[in-house]
Amino acid sequence: MTRIRAAITGIQGWVPPYILNNKELESMVDTSDEWITTRTGIKERHIQKGKGLGTSDMAAEAVKGLLEKTNTRPEEIGMVICATVTPDMIFPATANIISDKTGIRNAFSFDMNAACSGLLYALVTASKFIETGSVKKAIVIGADKMSSITDYTSRDTCVLFGDAAGAILLEPTTEEVGIMDSIMQSDGSGRFYLHMKAGGSLKPPSHETIDAKEHFVYQEGQPVFKFAVTKMADVAAEIMARNNLKSEDISYLVPHQANLRIIDATARRMGVGTEQVMINIERYGNTTGGTIPLCLWEWENKLKKGDNVILAAFGGGFTWGSIWLKWAY
Ligand code: UT7
Repeated sequence: MTRIRAAITGIQGWVPPYILNNKELESMVDTSDEWITTRTGIKERHIQKGKGLGTSDMAAEAVKGLLEKTNTRPEEIGMVICATVTPDMIFPATANIISDKTGIRNAFSFDMNAACSGLLYALVTASKFIETGSVKKAIVIGADKMSSITDYTSRDTCVLFGDAAGAILLEPTTEEVGIMDSIMQSDGSGRFYLHMKAGGSLKPPSHETIDAKEHFVYQEGQPVFKFAVTKMADVAAEIMARNNLKSEDISYLVPHQANLRIIDATARRMGVGTEQVMINIERYGNTTGGTIPLCLWEWENKLKKGDNVILAAFGGGFTWGSIWLKWAY
């Protein structure tokens, strides 16, 4: 029997126009362009300004662009998954709202919360529906309005994050391309180091939680850094080893963009050179669900059919994972 795989057949990103650069941040908190650049690699990030706009608005732009460039009608889409930690609302799912805003009426749509690894979790989930034949066209979105949960008086976190959305079209293929293998992992004991303290059922919103600034990202940078360096590099090395892939076989590493030093460590461990690593953290910062699709979107013209691509991510939870795919077009 011919094996069906899920292949990426289109990719589209979207970032809001406003750019918050390190210089502007210097006027907001006690930081410097030098500190931010050397510790993180970030120079600027895009921020969604304007009332009444949420994650779904950025994602809808990406989805509309994706449908147009791939000549796909909204009614052909059977599944929409949105990876996000900044949903428009606790419920309904942001994926439902995006579907409504883009005319997608025949899909079942839901959100995936795996923080910075969300896009990988969502891609793997959607790929299983494609592989079994129950869905013919799926859209996987990574989108976050991180500015909505960032405390712009805290230099520890406000220099790190940006807003963005990316949308990926997945379709079945019988060729030797598409998603070849994946490893997804999580360790909930890591939740203490990276989370949002209030707003959920454990600690519903109250005047006290607002006064205590508990609706913003809380991160203990160093422990997260240590885990991220180890786990992202380990999982990328493991997926290569178990598929007998050597560094010279890899066309691109597409790492989650949280910190240039974590990206460098992962690339070193895999033995791949800088020219094989997609890096755009300097212009977008950490956009959580958005980082990997933004990279693929920007490198789309350089990718060739059959290229071996390794995606790798680490995020809150802790969650981490890696996907090996062969580019399909
Ligand atoms: O995306 C999901 C997963 N997240 C990650 O992977 C992030 C992992 N962590 C990191 O990337 C890094 O830990 C950070 C970039 C968040 C921080 O870098 P670091 O090298 O770990 O710095 P640190 O937190 O150890 O802070 C070092 C110093 C401290 O000052 P003292 O105590 O040494 O006097 C901080 O107060 O740098 C200070 N600092 C800053 N200084 C200027 C912290 N933030 C800033 C800042 N500007 N923005």
